[in-house]
Amino acid sequence: MTEPRLPLHTSSHDLPVSPALDTFMRAAWADTPLPGGDRVPARDLTPARRARVAARFPGERLVIPAGTLAVRSNDTDHRFRPHTGYAWLTGLTGEDQAGHVLVLEPDGDARHEAVLYLRPRSPRTGGEFYRDRRYGEFWVGRRPGLAEAAGLTGVRCEHLDAWEKLMTGSQPPTRFIAGVDPAVDVWLGDARRIPVPRPAPAGLDTVISELRLVKDPWEQGELQRAVDATTAGFEDVVRSLPRALAHPRGERVVEGVFGLRARLDGNGPGYATVAAAGAHACVLHWTRNDGPLKRGQLMLLDAGVETDSLYTADITRTLPLSGTFTPLQRTAYELVLAAQDAGIAALRPGARFRDFHQAAMRVIADGLHDWGVLPMPAEEALSAENGFHRRYTLCSSGHMLGMDLHDCAQARAGAYLDGVLEPGQVLTVEPGLYLQPDDETLPRELRGLGIRIEDDLVITADGARLMSAALPRTPDGVEAWMAGLLES
Ligand code: GLY
Ligand code: MN
Ligand code: MN
Repeated sequence: MTEPRLPLHTSSHDLPVSPALDTFMRAAWADTPLPGGDRVPARDLTPARRARVAARFPGERLVIPAGTLAVRSNDTDHRFRPHTGYAWLTGLTGEDQAGHVLVLEPDGDARHEAVLYLRPRSPRTGGEFYRDRRYGEFWVGRRPGLAEAAGLTGVRCEHLDAWEKLMTGSQPPTRFIAGVDPAVDVWLGDARRIPVPRPAPAGLDTVISELRLVKDPWEQGELQRAVDATTAGFEDVVRSLPRALAHPRGERVVEGVFGLRARLDGNGPGYATVAAAGAHACVLHWTRNDGPLKRGQLMLLDAGVETDSLYTADITRTLPLSGTFTPLQRTAYELVLAAQDAGIAALRPGARFRDFHQAAMRVIADGLHDWGVLPMPAEEALSAENGFHRRYTLCSSGHMLGMDLHDCAQARAGAYLDGVLEPGQVLTVEPGLYLQPDDETLPRELRGLGIRIEDDLVITADGARLMSAALPRTPDGVEAWMAGLLES
């Protein structure tokens, strides 16, 4: 009998396979149906999305990669999440999409045909299904076969091997999203081999970002589901506060409870939860979450659930851990709330995107001046050449929200930052006040206060609808809501 092949290096996980075992493994497997639905939920929406993108690039091959697995440690990878453009155009949102590529192929008639290059389910006649720990079915789960993937998406599907062959053949003018899949970057990034279209229109990722700015009713529904699931997570966090307060790393308990509720509902977080007690709240992206909670402190919780469709909520509440704001905390909170109210009031179709931020900052600057923190009138502090209020606010008061947390980020300024709001756009309004614990411009009692109030809104025909209205924002409302949850 032949000796099993030994690995060249220590590998405690993959054991060598004898030829006899290999033969035994390949035989006698029943056909199994693909688990889950047989159509991706967005299947009926994706043809029009692809047509709108393709119409901007007549005669060009368009390449949209899903992205690749990224090593987390040695032989284990980070969870995979496909590139948003790929997911939006295919409806495929799962962790099994790593390495896949969507190609919109010009058909010579000012139209494009979509082709998905996929790694299909590995046949049981080969060894991959049980030996390949990155892609084998017995290691990471069942993938669709080519016919199954075509049924799911309504798109013609080819083996990923054919993609590599395509790349070695002659190329039509080709445009691709760079920085998503290193192999695609290598194949297509060489300007000597690929004719660059002239004149160069907006990049593919820019066009996709801009077309994603307005959310259709289905997308708004997915975002509302994400917001509602996030509300449930915030409620569970409040219920668990007694336990978190008793734990030396209470912030981790808060993060864990939010994540647990997301998982209990079959979802997951859309970004790293910020659970920041006391002065940690002055760190915008405090995701270490390794500190304790103390009863007299505020805790800033910035968290959002992402559904299977990859639409995510993005909500922040700043909660008094004792259940009641101190007078000072209440005063500071009310200034941020007034800023948020002013920002929300500035949302309507035709308003400039920058208006709500400016409205919120005006309120903050006035308040800081009244407190004697800003030594000049708000007007002077807010001027472009000064911007002194930003020492205490740091970042913008909101952003587009959708499949990406900071959605549509590749859109040109004219369509987004310098553009006007349109019905169907979804965005956050999230002014904050971050009074650093070591800031000598501040009275001592204000140092270390960090407050953000963040809500998700959809622009309507005549204003905006607060999607996250189920979570109270006023100090009285927050206290009553917390009391109710802590009693139940
Ligand atoms: N959680 C990041 C943000 O609010 O934009
Ligand atoms: Mn946000
Ligand atoms: Mn946030």
